[in-house]
Amino acid sequence: MNHRTQVGIVGAGPAGLMLSHLLHLAGIESVLLEARSRQYVEERVRAGLLEQGTVNLLIETGVGERLKRLGLTHHGIELRFGGRGHRIDLSGLTGGSTVTIYAQHEVIKDLIAARLAAGGQIIFEAGDVGVHDFDRPTPKIRYRIDGNMNELSCDFIAGCDGFHGVCRPTIPAGVLTMYDRIYPFAWLGILAEARPSSAELIYAYHDRGFALHSMRSPEITRLYIQCAPDEDLAQWPDERIWEELQLRLAAGKDWKLNRGAVIQKGITEMRSFVVEPMQSGTLFLAGDAAHIVPPTGAKGLNLAVADVRVLARALTDYYSNGNRELLSSYSETCLRRVWKVQRFSWWMTSMLHRFADDNPFDQRRQLAELDYVTTSRAASQTLAENYVGLPME
Ligand code: FAD
Ligand code: DHB
Repeated sequence: MNHRTQVGIVGAGPAGLMLSHLLHLAGIESVLLEARSRQYVEERVRAGLLEQGTVNLLIETGVGERLKRLGLTHHGIELRFGGRGHRIDLSGLTGGSTVTIYAQHEVIKDLIAARLAAGGQIIFEAGDVGVHDFDRPTPKIRYRIDGNMNELSCDFIAGCDGFHGVCRPTIPAGVLTMYDRIYPFAWLGILAEARPSSAELIYAYHDRGFALHSMRSPEITRLYIQCAPDEDLAQWPDERIWEELQLRLAAGKDWKLNRGAVIQKGITEMRSFVVEPMQSGTLFLAGDAAHIVPPTGAKGLNLAVADVRVLARALTDYYSNGNRELLSSYSETCLRRVWKVQRFSWWMTSMLHRFADDNPFDQRRQLAELDYVTTSRAASQTLAENYVGLPME
């Protein structure tokens, strides 16, 4: 089959789906191609923390109904070190902003439902996806369905296919510059049927390594511990994970972590990565396809949404007014914010983790930084302003 649309989008993650939704609201047609099944993308456990700007955008564009009902609004977070908790008053320090706990796969479900209800086309389980001719005004996406190759012609391609996708590697050598940093640790994360042990998130710095207490609902806790990058999950029976979490998260001898059945377990690698520029001809990269942040600041999903907001505005200006200026400056506009978020995610990661080669000096320095961040209003405010999310543009 040969078919045509205005914008061909590769990848039905938060970036691709949100872009398709925003384009639809602006009267622009798109087709989404996704390698996985609908069920797979709707059940994939990932992020859980939405910035104020992401929440506002979902609500303003009509996909925030379940988010408003099920999302958990948080006004503060806790930094725990030296066996004590120190609260950062996010709302008080930012003029009332909050963050919201709402699982990424719930955002995915809401966006897929909205696209399908509006007659949007999402082609799941598309095989051998390839992007072609993006050095010309009529790029093409070829893909296989039921054993047959198909061709989608479009005006623009949005590469929203994540870090391991095909769009970025298809851009000819020499066009992109890559900047990256790999960290000497990973996170072991679990989802457990246990009541959260605290109303707010806890980021803990401990001699044994970082730990994070988060949640998904009043009945489900999400927990992470710093581990080795090549950690073998088989070495971590549930009991060992709970003991380690209790040790790292403890504040005072009476603090007890609520335990429950572990319903999901996984290891997340940690990396910082950016490509410049985020575009080549008529191909535009957005979200994890263009940049990765370590998860400590909870920024990946939010950054993906911020990119496609810029891209949707640029495409709308082109289709409404024939103006290409915003498309030309897409990378530049996104990268200004991307690099600030990279800095924040790197800083949170560096402050809160144990490094293999650190020495007592580094540990003292980290503790001094935590002490400063939790006692200086200026320093807490800097953390809070970045955590709730920098302005979208
Ligand atoms: P993705 O979500 O990766 O979507 C890309 C899509 O493209 C996928 O559906 C994939 O199947 C599809 N695809 C790939 N290759 C192809 C192909 N060749 N053809 C067609 N389709 C293809 N971020 C936060 O903001 N807050 C958090 O709290 C947070 N916590 C995290 C916790 C964990 C454990 C992990 C792993 C990530 C976390 N993140 C967090 C990061 C966040 O999940 C990602 O940044 C986000 O998913 C990026 O969205 P995306 O749409 O750019 O890419
Ligand atoms: C979650 C993940 C993060 O990386 C983070 O910083 C905060 C919360 C979460 O999965 O809930």
